[in-house]
Amino acid sequence: TDRYCVFGHPVAHSKSPAIHAAFAAQTGQAMEYTAIEAPLDDFAGAWRRFTAEGGRGANVTVPFKEEAFRLCDTLSQRARRAGAVNTLVLGKNGLTYGDTTDGVGLVRDLVRHGVTLAGARILVLGAGGAVRGVLEPLLAERPASLVVANRTAAKARALAADFRELGTITGGGFDAVAGPFDVVINGTSASLAGDLPPLPDDLFSEGATAYDMMYGAEPTVFLRWAEARGARPVDGLGMLVEQAAESFYQWRGRHPDTAPVLETLRASL
Ligand code: ATR
Repeated sequence: TDRYCVFGHPVAHSKSPAIHAAFAAQTGQAMEYTAIEAPLDDFAGAWRRFTAEGGRGANVTVPFKEEAFRLCDTLSQRARRAGAVNTLVLGKNGLTYGDTTDGVGLVRDLVRHGVTLAGARILVLGAGGAVRGVLEPLLAERPASLVVANRTAAKARALAADFRELGTITGGGFDAVAGPFDVVINGTSASLAGDLPPLPDDLFSEGATAYDMMYGAEPTVFLRWAEARGARPVDGLGMLVEQAAESFYQWRGRHPDTAPVLETLRASL
């Protein structure tokens, strides 16, 4: 049986083993997928040991995505630009290939919700690793404009500069944000603290979608705020399932049906 896992620290609450078990059952793949808590000071060693014991690939979550990036022998273009890897693949030659599927996952989930990204005015909140990981796939959809806004304005400006050749992207502080936007994506970790970035009330266009990369049993503060201002709220559970599906495809060459898996997961929150 081919072995896969998710590395994290902590990792006990990861939903990835359940998601990949469902994908494997659905597509008839004989594989095992577990959660492994890698030591904070030796991620590379954990990956080496896993592959020595028959591991073929892995997902990587907090806080190892940058370390995973550094140990790869080859990288996808989008992983190189993201500076982070959430999917490791052991090649037949013994080399480690790294990819990041978070951005594709976000785009697929938005499309699944009927959001048109081509020509859209997009606002992304936050300028950390989570946002860096999704910018290239978002820009590939050819939005009319993409604005990155962050508490620390300089980080948003630097991030926008890094992606400048891929599309119309600008960065700044929350105070400089001027709508309307068709899609507003919260990629800050403010929701975790129950915080809301300071945003103007007239942020959304008619029929706009508000997306939070976070998810939970209850809507986040950001999604409640957005819904009260007329936007359609969507949380990040679908992104989680879609990024997993893309990792699964990298390993097994099969595209699982994400809808029933998402439905089961939603019911379990
Ligand atoms: P991640 O990997 O989740 O992106 P990160 O790289 O630490 O984590 O980035 C966290 C992001 O959330 C940053 O954009 C951060 O803003 P700063 O760059 O100004 O620190 C943002 N953030 C965290 N807490 C926030 C809060 N309470 N209000 C607004 N933004 C917040």
